[in-house]
Amino acid sequence: MSNDGFLSFPQSFLWGVSTSAYQIEGAVDEDGRGLSIWDTFCRQPGKVRNGENGDVAADHYHRWQEDVHIMAELGLKAYRFSIAWPRILPSGYGAVNPKGLDFYGRLVDALLAKGIEPFPTLYHWDLPQALQDRGGWPNRDTAYYFAEYAQVIAEALGDRVTYWITHNEPFVAAVLGYFTGEHAPGVQDPVAAFQAGHHLLLSHGLAAQALRETARLRPHVGIALNLSPVYPASESEADRQAAVRFDGVLNRMFLDPLFRRQYPQDLLNLLGGLFPQPEPGDLDRIGAPLDFLGVNYYSRIVVRHDPEFPLIQAVQVQPEGAEYSQMWEIYPQGMYDLLTRIWADYRPAYVLVTENGIPVADAPDLDGRVRDERRIRYLRDHLVQVHRAMSDGVPLRGYFVWSLLDNFEWAHGYAMRFGLVYVDYATQQRIVKDSGRWYAQVVAENGVRVGE
Ligand code: FCB
Repeated sequence: MSNDGFLSFPQSFLWGVSTSAYQIEGAVDEDGRGLSIWDTFCRQPGKVRNGENGDVAADHYHRWQEDVHIMAELGLKAYRFSIAWPRILPSGYGAVNPKGLDFYGRLVDALLAKGIEPFPTLYHWDLPQALQDRGGWPNRDTAYYFAEYAQVIAEALGDRVTYWITHNEPFVAAVLGYFTGEHAPGVQDPVAAFQAGHHLLLSHGLAAQALRETARLRPHVGIALNLSPVYPASESEADRQAAVRFDGVLNRMFLDPLFRRQYPQDLLNLLGGLFPQPEPGDLDRIGAPLDFLGVNYYSRIVVRHDPEFPLIQAVQVQPEGAEYSQMWEIYPQGMYDLLTRIWADYRPAYVLVTENGIPVADAPDLDGRVRDERRIRYLRDHLVQVHRAMSDGVPLRGYFVWSLLDNFEWAHGYAMRFGLVYVDYATQQRIVKDSGRWYAQVVAENGVRVGE
């Protein structure tokens, strides 16, 4: 696959970009959209940097045609976006809002017309507020409402969409949403968090079944997990055990039920009564075969034993001498370690890297160009590791950069710019960054030049 200085990828490789609804769309009270938990959360003082919110974001709801045009110009093969549940079912269930369905129908048609494969994600954290008012994800009913929503979407788009992602990062939705409270709905209750985690997984299983029963095109159904390889900070036995526990909560808590129909026994022992009792049949639903696994990878985790830390007695440390972005350590080798480990332990049918990217504090230079060399380097270094994993047998069929556009980065507000395309929030002007041009070249050549 490779020769000197150039790593080539398989012909049908899916080169894509990812976004999510609340982070780019804006238009939060247009065309019948209901409130989401992020609308509510952003209005609570101190939750989001500078009190920012997604009311306007990158104004994609009005500028989607321009954004599709940019993707076509970059030659992209695939676009992963999310559907805002509160646009489709403003109260979470019951009455369907046809204008919401129309928006995504038009988007899908425009993508297909340009030869870009749509990859909708059904849930990227914007739960209808009406469902949070009934308890949110800790309430088991939410899983069944999610399946109803999936069915509505499958009826509307299942004649055109092949690839589906049920959830984005259920770990983050459960743990940051209901345990640490850093994300909407801002609850801080470990029992609620573990219930949320289980119900998110259950809802994945129910929605996957609804998609398979309803979509006209045979669907490829997957889920996107945030996964990181976890390494001990030292060779001590205590640190090693801490890394096993951290890996349990972050990775195996989701991978084991999805691929083995069981929660990891060491975690159940650790968490005891905090962990919800799955009802009979839940694990069979959750573990029904997936068509693909989506992997969101940004960084590794290094941990040490800490008896003070609740539950898992393990804390993340930032290793000295490492390279850092504004948010995380930069560790390309972790991509390889993670992909090969997933393949060895779980044997997914195939894998897509559904997110990978870096925040860079970039801005246009005097000539209007955005020279984000650091992003190019990050993406290139990670693609080298992706390629290595494929050469070692990992069945990887696609790679999606987070993100197409600069956007609303949750609790960080607009401070973090992840886009291949710069957004001037004052004017909503889009400028393709140097990284965007570089990625277009990767797609056009179907490979990565290294050592340049
Ligand atoms: C991931 C999220 C995505 C974005 C990136 C930076 O955890 O899925 O929405 O915030 O991180």
